[in-house]
Amino acid sequence: MIKEPNRDSAIGIFDSGLGGLTVAREIMRQLPKEKIVYFGDTARLPYGSKSKETITRYSRQIINFLMTQDVKAIVIACNTASSYALESVSREYDIPIIGVIEPGARTAVASTRCKNVGVIGTEGTISSKVYNRSIHAIDDSIIVSGKACPLFVPLVEEGWIYDDVTRTVAERYLYDLKQENIDTLILGCTHYPLLRKLVGEVMGPDVVLVNPAYETARDLKALLEATDSLRKCSSNAEEEHSFFVSDKARSFSNFANSILPCNIDSAHKIDIEKY
Ligand code: DGL
Repeated sequence: MIKEPNRDSAIGIFDSGLGGLTVAREIMRQLPKEKIVYFGDTARLPYGSKSKETITRYSRQIINFLMTQDVKAIVIACNTASSYALESVSREYDIPIIGVIEPGARTAVASTRCKNVGVIGTEGTISSKVYNRSIHAIDDSIIVSGKACPLFVPLVEEGWIYDDVTRTVAERYLYDLKQENIDTLILGCTHYPLLRKLVGEVMGPDVVLVNPAYETARDLKALLEATDSLRKCSSNAEEEHSFFVSDKARSFSNFANSILPCNIDSAHKIDIEKY
């Protein structure tokens, strides 16, 4: 049973690393009064090449940790963990837990005119075919073509966002999708919006890029409204967010500062295996 929410509690957000910050950024934009507790599992990244059992175990540990931080809702800001773990963990905890797949699928269905959608993501997300199922649950006449792009995550974590190496990798990964006549491409990994410009240049101006973060933040807002748990205070929460990682705290906070609208003094390193 879902427990009575405390409006002043925080929103827990997690990902394998930096990628979920693209979702945190959108939540900060749409819900500026809400406090965020972010966890990036930088010691155990990447998630995309690991099994469903492992990612579900990692997700439970992270949710157990976030539950110690007085959170009223959790956003799994990771497509791989949403694909593998959302269904089970959302039944196991007494606070609402949402993922990024359904919001992304909904946005893509609304965007495609020629009913031909591409999805890029980790090996885990693409092989789970979770986007195909979510899109077909809305409109089963849409053709969905997936492509795993496993090198994108380490390139983003390395900060090689505008790099010739990354462009070459993108051209090679996206070559097949370019032959499929898609008009909409889901950035089905939360690291990929950081490569949006480059992916857009490779795919060309006729392909709409979908970042599920926007619709995920809208879903979160609707959920908080429906449960009367939106935070009601006069000032924004900029100074109140907290950031935790399982490794490399300094490089995480440097990068986070380059993409978030607020300043992070430091990220705290915790031992996630204890949870
Ligand atoms: N950013 C994550 C996702 O959305 C995971 C990337 C990874 O660790 O492989 O799938």
